Amino acid sequence: MLKAVILIGGPQKGTRFRPLSFEVPKPLFPVAGVPMLQHHIEACVKVPNMKEILLVGFYQPNEELNKFLLNVQQEFKISIRYLQEYSALGTAGGIYHFRDQIVAGGPEAFFIMNADVCSAFPLTDMLRFQKDHGEPNSFVILGTTVSLLFILVVCWILKRSKIGFVLHYVEKPSTFVSDIINCGIYLFTPDIFQHIGAVFQKNQQDMLLYPFDGEEPSNGWHRAEAIRLEQDVFTALAGQGKLYVYKTLSFWSQIKSAGSAIYASRLYLNQYHTSHAERLATNEEGGALLFLPDAKLGPNVSIGTGVTIGAGVRVRESIILHGATLQDHSCVLNSIVGWDSTIGKWARVEGTPSDPNPNDPYAKIDSETLFRDGKLTPSITILGCNVNIPSEVVILNSIVLPHKDLNRGFKNQIIL
Ligand code: GDD
Ligand code: GTP
Repeated sequence: MLKAVILIGGPQKGTRFRPLSFEVPKPLFPVAGVPMLQHHIEACVKVPNMKEILLVGFYQPNEELNKFLLNVQQEFKISIRYLQEYSALGTAGGIYHFRDQIVAGGPEAFFIMNADVCSAFPLTDMLRFQKDHGEPNSFVILGTTVSLLFILVVCWILKRSKIGFVLHYVEKPSTFVSDIINCGIYLFTPDIFQHIGAVFQKNQQDMLLYPFDGEEPSNGWHRAEAIRLEQDVFTALAGQGKLYVYKTLSFWSQIKSAGSAIYASRLYLNQYHTSHAERLATNEEGGALLFLPDAKLGPNVSIGTGVTIGAGVRVRESIILHGATLQDHSCVLNSIVGWDSTIGKWARVEGTPSDPNPNDPYAKIDSETLFRDGKLTPSITILGCNVNIPSEVVILNSIVLPHKDLNRGFKNQIIL
């Protein structure tokens, strides 16, 4: 049998997702109409013999998370549980801490997935690859090719041999190593815990040797348990013939910033044509544009429940969250409109898309920083929850924090 573990992080993470992550944990933010995590879960339940999905993170259990768990358990009829780390233990520390829960029931293999990625999740292909190419007990990383430009900007690099085993692994290197990056989706066997355990033992020894190394001795246990899968485990495993990379041609993107959530929505909406046509609004053309009697929505627009759309409204490349009101003739382009926000008549809310170059098949979205050279980088416009935009104003490339009543237009600003 198989299991899957999704690394959901915790409240200190997702900073580039503010102010939206103030209202809802980032992994539950809706992408293409469903919580980001649900795409992972839907992919897992399609894998034959999948018995349990574990979410590992350091969020306090909260109402949204509990409601989400209940909903997905009921919908997918599979055990889905949340395991809470006592503190951020890193991408390998959390799974090591909960290793007994992961191996309970004797899975022969399990997937580990970062929550903040959007992907076609070629999980069965990874299983097949492991059977066909891997040594028994080998570990598989999902990889994708990126264009050179992206490598210079962000980069997580793998170098692989012809048959696919990882020769060299460098996390976020500063020079060119290879054009394959780690997608944050892995297939492991329980053997991985020996390798993480070796790092844990070493950390523990270091802790005994240097108990006061910058931290209170009482924090020592945390120092030993905080382990990074990429730097601490993969780097050591590379070149040993145990770590393989399965390169996918299917879609993949990170979801770090709110702008990348709009891009990820587009990727999933494209996939819905074959996987979930019922989730797409239809009109005669069945295409990406929806013509209401007096409004035009699309392409790449997701509308939450209870949203009111007035006459003459135009929306494209945007996410409108539940309870929002777009009054007559307002226009929303490349923006996220927060829960219960209102956009006045003839107002225009517009942002700058951060999409990768559409002419480059290997281009990936840049993980933008909010500021460059002391200035706000032009990006999508984000309205936090319960923001009121008056009539006939323009809000351009701005981020508006929750519960604001604006009285004029703004351009390139963060409105606190
Ligand atoms: N449970 C738990 N505990 N989850 C964590 C922790 C932690 O302490 N720290 C991070 N995560 C989760 C995040 O929520 C996210 O889903 C995932 O682990 C990876 O987050 P980061 O550690 O911020 O890494 P990254 O996104 O910069 O890079 C990783 O992902 C890339 C693909 O998107 C690396 O694995 C890269 O190699 C990879 O290319
Ligand atoms: P492209 O050149 O292909 O981008 O198309 P386009 O010029 O038709 O622009 P777009 O698809 O963005 O706009 C489509 C419709 O939105 C048009 O019918 C416009 O009337 C309408 N539209 C554009 N800007 C505004 C605006 O500020 N307010 C309102 N209410 N509608 C707008």
